[in-house]
Amino acid sequence: MRVAVIGLGYVGLTAAVCLSQAGHEVTGVEADPERLARLRELRLPFFEPGLLEGMTGALRSGRLSFAGDVREFGDPLDAAIVAVGSPQLPSGRADLSQVTAALQSLEALPLAPRLVMLKSTVPPGTSRRMLARLGPALARRYVYSPEFLSQGTAVRDWQAPARIVIGTDNKELLGEARELLRGCEAPWVVTTPTNAEMIKYAANAFLATKVSFVNEIANLCDDVGASIDDVVEGLGLDPRIGPAFLKAGVGWGGSCFPKDTRALANVAVGHRRSLPLLEAVITVNNRQPVMLLGAIHGSLQRVAEPLVAVGGLSFKAGTDDTREAPSRTMLPELIAQGYRVVAWDPLVACEVSERVFPGVTRAETFEQAAAGAHLVLVLTDAREIVGADWGAISRQMQAPKLVVDGRNCLDATFLRAVGLNYRAVGRAAS
Ligand code: UGA
Repeated sequence: MRVAVIGLGYVGLTAAVCLSQAGHEVTGVEADPERLARLRELRLPFFEPGLLEGMTGALRSGRLSFAGDVREFGDPLDAAIVAVGSPQLPSGRADLSQVTAALQSLEALPLAPRLVMLKSTVPPGTSRRMLARLGPALARRYVYSPEFLSQGTAVRDWQAPARIVIGTDNKELLGEARELLRGCEAPWVVTTPTNAEMIKYAANAFLATKVSFVNEIANLCDDVGASIDDVVEGLGLDPRIGPAFLKAGVGWGGSCFPKDTRALANVAVGHRRSLPLLEAVITVNNRQPVMLLGAIHGSLQRVAEPLVAVGGLSFKAGTDDTREAPSRTMLPELIAQGYRVVAWDPLVACEVSERVFPGVTRAETFEQAAAGAHLVLVLTDAREIVGADWGAISRQMQAPKLVVDGRNCLDATFLRAVGLNYRAVGRAAS
């Protein structure tokens, strides 16, 4: 098929690369001239494992190209995927201007594509409203198919999804959708656009709920002298619960969970409904970094000129994305407290950390960041942090030699054996 993918963020670019690998002739459309120029120079605007190699191969094969506007196309398109951003407005509502602009650009084509698939996350009811405004040629071709790609595993998630959700009023489009997504073996959920939109928000809200739930239980474990690791093992083996997304720690962040949970809460407000469970999920998450900050302040009270080393600036390991990362809450607080802060991250570029974390010194390695520190704060379970030479780090740290493990990723027994004090979330009994 001849396919256009509009919006080359991590979803659109992953889609463009994987679709061309599946044999389609794909043009990635990116409105931001700077991003477009970078892509043409084979430079990714973000880190995503396997994507650069895939993109290079796809460009070489001639099945992938880039354009600045969908209207540059001469030949008719078989399919168009819209994967532009739907960021949050200050009011909490999703900003759909990029989605609207992308659909309008498709409407302006002399011949409508056979299939128009929206992938951007949009609040329930959005497709319905947009369909009412779209011309009939495009409306007949419209499918809402939410994406479930996680940063760090996006390519794998595209190629082997857990499910494919197709929301459409026109079941005749299923043939085109199957042709477009050939090679992605997964159960299909065929439903209405509004249901598909709801599935996306409900999935992210449920996953965020699991993490907030386990964090709440972990905090209580600390009070009652239980170990969250053992509790989670016992919980996760129940197939009705499952072990995924039960890792306690500093809380969830990133470009999806915070935005999508707030957007869902906002949708409820629009319907004069409160969602007390979702609100609590958000509140619990906001408290996690604050709780760890309290522990840090408490343990550094008597230290003159405290030096804090931070391992991991992104919202999770395996990505360079710092959007709504716990580091964004915690580092300014540490600086405001008058601590010296040295940070390290394997993927976040130095210019980004200088801009995002003013006042924080950047180290070359994790070990270098920890040298001389009174406290090490671990904010991602990056391989280099988990596998660091903790014996050497212990020898170079200063009292109280405290490691605050915001990801419950370190071996408490080993760290204590090498002379470190250790604090995590729900592991007081470990
Ligand atoms: C999430 C969803 O997992 C994807 O399915 C979805 O497509 C994507 O959002 C999106 O809406 O685009 P992502 O934001 O990349 O993907 O990250 P996750 O791996 O889901 O992690 C989210 C946050 O939860 C991270 O901060 C992570 O550290 C935290 N987390 C996750 C925990 O604290 N504990 C866990 O057990 C799991």
